[in-house]
Amino acid sequence: MPRTARRSPWSGRGDRRGAGAYGTGPYGTGGLGPAWSPAGPRDGSGPVAGATTVPGMRIGVIGTGNVGRALAKAWAAAGHDVVLGSRDPGARKELGLPVAGVRQAAAGAEVVVNATPGADSVALLRAAGADVLDGKVLVDIAVGYTVEDHGFALTHTDVSLGEEIQQAFPAARVVKTLSTMDSSAMVAPDGLAEESTVFLSGDDPAAKTVTGALLTDLGWSPSSQLDLGTIDTARGQEHFALLFVALMGALGTHTFNVRVVPPAQR
Ligand SMILES: NC(=O)c1ccc[n+]([C@@H]2O[C@H](COP(=O)([O-])OP(=O)(O)OC[C@H]3O[C@@H](n4cnc5c(N)ncnc54)[C@H](OP(=O)(O)O)[C@@H]3O)[C@@H](O)[C@H]2O)c1
Repeated sequence: MPRTARRSPWSGRGDRRGAGAYGTGPYGTGGLGPAWSPAGPRDGSGPVAGATTVPGMRIGVIGTGNVGRALAKAWAAAGHDVVLGSRDPGARKELGLPVAGVRQAAAGAEVVVNATPGADSVALLRAAGADVLDGKVLVDIAVGYTVEDHGFALTHTDVSLGEEIQQAFPAARVVKTLSTMDSSAMVAPDGLAEESTVFLSGDDPAAKTVTGALLTDLGWSPSSQLDLGTIDTARGQEHFALLFVALMGALGTHTFNVRVVPPAQR
């Protein structure tokens, strides 16, 4: 099957209006079922406890596209010391933020953010050098996909990109998050009609605490953050892209998010 050029499913309005997107839902009356509880269904997972960052945290955002720019601006506005990492920093001078090479941006950072095309992320990070990721929180937002003749297709169908990055860089502390929504919602959750859910997946609890605090800086309240568990749960976050694309078509917009609703307490 020939692959067409990669174009982002997150940009532009959806062009297929679905019938009754919010009408009778696909889950019927059973809803999300009893698996989720405020305490979380698995050891270490569940809502993330509140944590705060210290202003001036050094963040290297790799990738200068929609996601990288939006996050870099938002964290800089929150008082952090943000450097964008680009393959061609000389050509990215108009962004209004410091831009360095990928290796340099990662080397100077405490937290490295992967906002690059998921199909290319591991090669790009390898080229930067594994040593600059050692011991660091690596916040992975990327999703690997291609746009085929039959539509949007994931490149990581069995093992997630988040897991692949963790395996490729075992000394990094990978946390997958924010990959289930558009960049507009990532940095402005209060622009949505009500509180929605952001997910975290990762093996290192302390890295998830740091990531949760950085999410709080973007406007994600602790109650909106749901820790799914270890990095293998990134599979669900990445596969959500398939539903995201369908929702975007049904709603006619890319600015929306989902909310996990637990069972009523009786
Ligand atoms: N857009 C969204 O709202 C959204 C939502 C959820 C998840 N995601 C995921 O987040 C990641 C970033 O999304 P995006 O929309 O910001 O992507 P994008 O606009 O395509 O930007 C990605 C950036 O990564 C850098 N890059 C490094 N290697 C590259 C390569 N081989 N080809 C092209 N660019 C490369 C480029 O910056 P330099 O040229 O400066 O190096 C580029 O601007 C993707 O994995 C995407 O699937 C996006």
